Amino acid sequence: MSTQQDTPPSGDGLFRTKTVEQSIRDTEEPEHALKKSLSALDLTVFGVGVIIGTGIFVLTGKVAKETAGPATALAFVAAGIVCALAALCYAEFASTVPVAGSAYTFSYASLGELVAWIIGWDLVLEFALGTAVVAVGWSGYVRSLMDNIGWTMPEALSGPDVASGFGFDILAFALVLVLTVILVLGMKLSARVTTVVVAVKLAVVFIVIIAGLFFIKASNYSPFIPEAEKQEGGSGLDAPLVQLIFGYEPTNFGVMGIFTAASIVFFAFIGFDVVATAAEETKLPQRDMPRGILASLVICTLLYVAVSIVVTGMQNYKELSVSAPLADAFKAVGHPFYAGVISFGAAVGLTTVCMILLLGQTRVFFAMSRDGLLPRFFSKTHPRFGTPYRPTILLGVIIAIVAGFTSINELATLVNIGTLFAFVVVALGVIVLRRTRPELHRAFRTPWVPLLPIVSVAASVWLMLNLPAETWLRFGIWMVIGVIIYFVYGRRNSRMAKGS
Ligand code: ALA
Repeated sequence: MSTQQDTPPSGDGLFRTKTVEQSIRDTEEPEHALKKSLSALDLTVFGVGVIIGTGIFVLTGKVAKETAGPATALAFVAAGIVCALAALCYAEFASTVPVAGSAYTFSYASLGELVAWIIGWDLVLEFALGTAVVAVGWSGYVRSLMDNIGWTMPEALSGPDVASGFGFDILAFALVLVLTVILVLGMKLSARVTTVVVAVKLAVVFIVIIAGLFFIKASNYSPFIPEAEKQEGGSGLDAPLVQLIFGYEPTNFGVMGIFTAASIVFFAFIGFDVVATAAEETKLPQRDMPRGILASLVICTLLYVAVSIVVTGMQNYKELSVSAPLADAFKAVGHPFYAGVISFGAAVGLTTVCMILLLGQTRVFFAMSRDGLLPRFFSKTHPRFGTPYRPTILLGVIIAIVAGFTSINELATLVNIGTLFAFVVVALGVIVLRRTRPELHRAFRTPWVPLLPIVSVAASVWLMLNLPAETWLRFGIWMVIGVIIYFVYGRRNSRMAKGS
């Protein structure tokens, strides 16, 4: 076994890295330790619980209608491939550095403190805004169910997407607060709740696939890839960056449309990386982490492709609903009962997605605080529940407010660019760590290094380029703020800085 003496922290300043041994040892300090209670099956349930959500329940309809038509299934395949490549890199890192914090911790062990900070800051964006997006999607489904039984929410309390004047989404706000309390009470409770809810969600997805099969009309698949058409209006900044860079006239549909669609439905896959954030709470992370990540990803990809093929076969893509496409497709073929069941299951299912994203978020914040990059105040775990209750409460309240006041669309693309950026860093990290620490035990080894990580980087960057130029702008601003905070606070207060 290596000790601190034979593997001192390496590098100075911005490029100092925290050794893998140091990362693992930090998790063993009693007052900063999380409970180890999860198995591979728990992780898979956890993964499926967070992965299937607003992406398939809401974005499928929007993307099929506006960007890719029936070829949305191909967009899911493209996004799934990008995620599978990234997952193979994540799995190596997660099984080598099994501590809380996901890509953040992995980068600290390989690419240095500045990169680690940047990635941690990026993950805060991904998870916080992701939680808000899903909470808003959840609230839409709940309102639609309430409408069914004759209750209507006042517009002003239905969120900015719905209200013409002031809009506060009180349901999304309340959901995030309730989930925050559940997370403070402890991991095991969350895992148990998750298992039940995941079962409901999967049942609904299977209902869509199996019942929907009987209503497919072959004519809805023609054309499978609709012809490219010019994008209307807009500032120009809302066109995919790649089309602006290469001077194309921005279009929807066609082959380019499949990639634009992939960069949006990518949101549907977000979450498998969250599984990696639970490494520290896993009983046998070296074995179970890669199994959990890859199994949940494969299951979700198969389900997404099936659902999108069925839904675009049930209804012409031009007529799909953009708010509740799966339920509305059943209404369109004259089966409101199925529609009700699907809406109910979607609302239940989105609850776990929201909860796990929130969990991932607090764990990243926790790890950053434990390292001193954020105030150490946040890394004291609760004496009784063993949970990082301080960041959970702080972030829960902030996210609840964001969810109450913001609309879903622009946030989702911002979440995507942040996540893809994290994929790029993780893939590069695999290559770097193989060189700097070749002797480390890796329970799971990414195949074909460095080729596979390089392909993973290229694929992630390609999807990023398919996101709107304005998303790049917003992402840039967020990252600049993060770098400033690092130089003002983290750099001086980091544990590594103080130790060296
Ligand atoms: N993948 C999750 C969703 O689709 C975040 O909502």
